[in-house]
Amino acid sequence: MDPTFRPGTLDDLDAAYEVFTRTTADLERRTGTPDAENDWLDPAFVAAFWRRRRPLFEHLTVHANGFWVAERRGRIVGYARASCQDGVRELNEFFVLPEHQNGGIGRDLLARAFPTGGARRRAVIGTTDVRALARYLKAGVYPRFPIYALSGTPRPIEIATDLAAAAAGTEAIDALREIDRAVLGFARDADHAFLLRERPVRLFRRAGRVVGYGYFGRGTGPIALLDPADFPAVLARGEAEAAARGEEEFGMNVPLVNRDAVDHLLGRGFRLEDFTVLFLSDEAFGRFEHYIVSTPDFFV
Ligand SMILES: CC(C)(COP(=O)(O)OP(=O)(O)OC[C@H]1O[C@@H](n2cnc3c(N)ncnc32)[C@H](O)[C@@H]1OP(=O)(O)O)[C@@H](O)C(=O)NCCC(=O)NCCS
Repeated sequence: MDPTFRPGTLDDLDAAYEVFTRTTADLERRTGTPDAENDWLDPAFVAAFWRRRRPLFEHLTVHANGFWVAERRGRIVGYARASCQDGVRELNEFFVLPEHQNGGIGRDLLARAFPTGGARRRAVIGTTDVRALARYLKAGVYPRFPIYALSGTPRPIEIATDLAAAAAGTEAIDALREIDRAVLGFARDADHAFLLRERPVRLFRRAGRVVGYGYFGRGTGPIALLDPADFPAVLARGEAEAAARGEEEFGMNVPLVNRDAVDHLLGRGFRLEDFTVLFLSDEAFGRFEHYIVSTPDFFV
């Protein structure tokens, strides 16, 4: 039976989450994760993730510019959700249930949610699943660099710096926008409004001028710095605070082109999670050597 397609709404959140979890469990299995270590097969983990991340999925829905679902027999079997901010269209989610994959549903979802027109740039943080990768390449976005989760047990550390760090709130939006335009090449006020509700942000100043920002708390990132040489001091500060809070893990999603962060974290014995995601875009843009991605990485 041919699928039908319609725009998604907030009423579809639960059904879309079920597609996401079942598809992710299958992807983990296909990429070699043993069932005993596959969190997405554990109903308690799936329920806890939903409680913690529902605000994120609501944010992605409310601010979507292209949320489409595919249905068969009245049941959602796949969906794609994208945003468009400051002329940059970003695909945030793209999932089709395993038993419905490889039959063209992904192609038809992407054509609707992630069209080629109407944006100055298009980008995705995507898995290396060959079906996803083939779909992305055929949609005209190409890999620029891999992103890996790097994490470790936080330990006290201090690195001397002339940076001044200050907690900030919604009044920081102009400064955040300015840093994003310099580092990413686009502004995303809606994402910051969401992030500011999620975890504390700090503005970093040098000689009174804002030179970067970083979100730290329950989850780290995004972090954007005009001078990437500041990453060791900024990450050391975040790690020391996580250690002082007694947290068991300090981790973040690192574009591997960010040499300053990679060298610092690997030098401290942090470990790479064995799961690759790629940043893909139609044309190269942004200075991701200056950047740590949001956690979780549904958007940059
Ligand atoms: C990615 C996903 C949403 C695509 O949906 P889908 O319905 O399976 O996609 P389609 O059937 O439209 O397209 C799959 C394409 O991969 C191609 N493909 C599959 N294996 C391939 C390979 N080894 N080499 C080249 N192309 C390949 C198919 O030929 C097809 O392209 P075509 O239609 O032009 O022939 C779905 O497969 C999925 O949920 N995957 C797991 C989750 C995931 O990784 N999502 C991405 C998150 S960022």
